[in-house]
Order: sequence, then C-alpha cells, then structure tokens
Amino acid sequence: MCEPRAGSIHETLPPRRPDRLRGAPTARREVTDRRPKDGIAPGLRTMSPMSRDLAIDLGTANTLVYAAGRGIVLNEPTVLAMDTRSKDVLALGEEAWQMIGRTPGYIVAVRPMRQGAITDFEITQRMIHVLLRRVGVGRMNRPKVLICVPSAITAVERRAVKEAARAAGASSCYLIDQPLAAAIGAGLAIHEPVGSMVVDVGGGTSEMAVTSLGGLVAMRAIRCGGFDLDAAIQQYVRSNFGIAIGERTAEAVKLAIGSAAPYEDEPDAEVRGREVSTGLPRTVVLSAAEVREAIEEQVAQILEATSHCLGEAPPELAQDIIFDGIHLTGGGALLRGLAQRIADTANVPVHLVGMPLECVALGAGKCIESFDRLAPLFASADR
Ligand SMILES: Nc1ncnc2c1ncn2[C@@H]1O[C@H](COP(=O)(O)OP(=O)(O)OP(=O)(O)O)[C@@H](O)[C@H]1O
Ligand SMILES: [Mg+2]
Repeated sequence: MCEPRAGSIHETLPPRRPDRLRGAPTARREVTDRRPKDGIAPGLRTMSPMSRDLAIDLGTANTLVYAAGRGIVLNEPTVLAMDTRSKDVLALGEEAWQMIGRTPGYIVAVRPMRQGAITDFEITQRMIHVLLRRVGVGRMNRPKVLICVPSAITAVERRAVKEAARAAGASSCYLIDQPLAAAIGAGLAIHEPVGSMVVDVGGGTSEMAVTSLGGLVAMRAIRCGGFDLDAAIQQYVRSNFGIAIGERTAEAVKLAIGSAAPYEDEPDAEVRGREVSTGLPRTVVLSAAEVREAIEEQVAQILEATSHCLGEAPPELAQDIIFDGIHLTGGGALLRGLAQRIADTANVPVHLVGMPLECVALGAGKCIESFDRLAPLFASADR
C-alpha cells in the first residue's frame, strides 16, 4: 500500500541546522562569548560593503534584496532567531529557520510578518537593520531603498517601515505596492492604456490587481496564502488521523504532493507526526486527493477573490484581460493545478510567470534601476 514513496516527507525536509547551532551549550557559547554591541551576531555582518541603491521584497515567507547593477543579492526566509535575554539577533533567514523548534528556551525564532502584516514592529525594525547591514549599508554607505509592502498594510505601518529603513542607514526610503512590483517584474506594459492583471499568491497574502496607465485600477488582497494551506494540512491530519504534525512538515507535504486539481500518477506521502492521544510518534500515509481536500477551502478563497477583482475592472480593461490573460506570481503560484483552476473559474487564460518567487523583487529592482522614470509609481504607495 505504501508504494511508491515519491512524496516521502522525511526526504523533502531541509537539512538539519549547522553543528554550531545544535544543542544548548554550543549555542549559548556562541551568544555570550562575543557580546555584539549593535545586537547583530558577527556572522551576520557583510564582508564587502557596496554602494548601490536597493529594492527589498519584505515578504511574509521570504525576503529578497535587489542591488542596482547586480540583481538579487539576498534571498532568505523571513525569520529571525533572537536571544530573548539580550535581544540580540543571532541568525537571519535560512539559519534561523533551521532553529525553529530545536533551540533552548531563551532563543526564539520569530517570523516578524504574519498574513502580510507586521506583527511585531520592533522585531521588523531589527530585521530591516540586519538586512541592510548584511548588504553593506552603514554610516559610509547610505543608499536609496525601495521596499515592497503588502497593499493591505496601514498608513501607520507604512510610515514605520520607512522610518526603520532610514534609521538603519538608508538615505531615503520609498514604498511600492506589492502587486504593482509584481506586474513590473512580470514584464507587463503597466504604463499603456490597456488592462493587465496580476495575481500574487504569497505566504501570508494573496493579492490580485488590475493595472492600467501605471496605476492600480482594481485590487483585492486576502489574508490567505501558502502558510494557510500548510495550516489546513496540519488541521486535516489532526482531525482525521489524530496526529499532530509541525508546520514545516505540512509545508513539505504540500510541496511534495499538494495540488489544486487532480494530476497524473499522483503519489502518496508518508508523514511522521505525534499521536495526540498518546504522545507517541506515528506515521500516516496521505494521498494527493486527501491533501487536495484539506486545502480546498483556501484554494476556493483565492479563486473567489480573483473573480471579484476581475469583476471590478472597468469593462474595456476586462476585455484586455480576457485577451491577454492573468499573470500568476508568488511562491503559492507553484501549487500544481492552481493556474488551471483560476483559468477555469475566471474563464481567461492564466500564465505562470518565469520566476514566481523572485518576480516582486525583480519588479522593484527594475524600478530602482530606472528610478527617475518610474518614480511616480512610488508616490501612490507613499500614502
Ligand atoms: N512548489 C510550490 N508549491 C506550492 N507552494 C509553494 C511552492 N514553492 C513555494 N511555495 C509556497 O510559497 C510561499 C512563499 O511564497 P512567497 O515567497 O512569494 O511569499 P512572500 O512574498 O514571502 O509572502 P507575502 O507576499 O504573502 O508576504 C510559501 O508558503 C511556500 O510554501
Ligand atoms: Mg510576496
């Protein structure tokens, strides 16, 4: 019954964290021996300063930094490992992600963004500070910084993000709405008087927007993204099998066999978790159909929001979209069968962009490369 094991979950889990982070004594020594004065562990500082304007995609799941003339110079999960006693930032990104659930009590791994919103502003400030240090920003090097923000964040949060960037060394900071950056990254002709539509399915949000003449004509943002699919898989396994699995295991299941529509040769996935009633380790085998059932409600939300957004576009622009299609970006766009489901529901062609995970950062990067020409685009996000 358990063959084939194409989606075996322990195979798809990321490697264990580096040796120096394993176990409390080593981690404690790392933290206390060096006493970083600015709250940044020595390994997080950059070796080679550079003076280039920057674009940052501050995503719920992943943070990317684009440097003018160089392209993407940093691509890390949006996670910080913090020492709660000293408030030092011990690790950023991949290294911090590996620490989740395996750290001594006083080291916590935090995701400063949830559902596209800033949950803890102080931590987000530290994150921006560490990010800018990592790419060489300091007292001697104060670049312009353009930050992509979810279109749903509040005016207060917008101001706070800009202040954080300036406090961390940016000479000036501008904001751009994520769907607009995604549209530019997808190479859409946003300045033309024609309608283009982009759907960005991220970790914490899904944003849909119709652009024309350089502006957002219709827009929808829902607090539902890849993390919510993971949570739905966790919930499904718990209520149907009585087994608790971690969020990383749930994500691994999604990546291995998850889908929004049936596909050929669907493999099963073997999942290890803890039986809720006994606390003992147990293994279950999940089919692709079961995972599809688990995430259907969230997929349906994305489909509904897309149809609503398209419905809000003025009729002439909707005509353009029916002809040109919807451009699908964001990591969640990679879910098998999602493009097809959107195409079937909205009744328009759907194109998955070439680099869905990098599309927003590349779009913001284009803005920073042609700053003066595209500057009017930032004004609307600067509210
Ligand atoms: N092959 C894949 N299939 C399904 N989901 C995937 C795949 N690859 C990545 N993802 C999901 O994409 C999400 C991350 O996408 P992305 O980096 O675009 O989000 P983000 O920009 O950080 O979030 P947001 O835009 O909501 O702030 C994660 O939930 C991840 O599980
Ligand atoms: Mg995003």
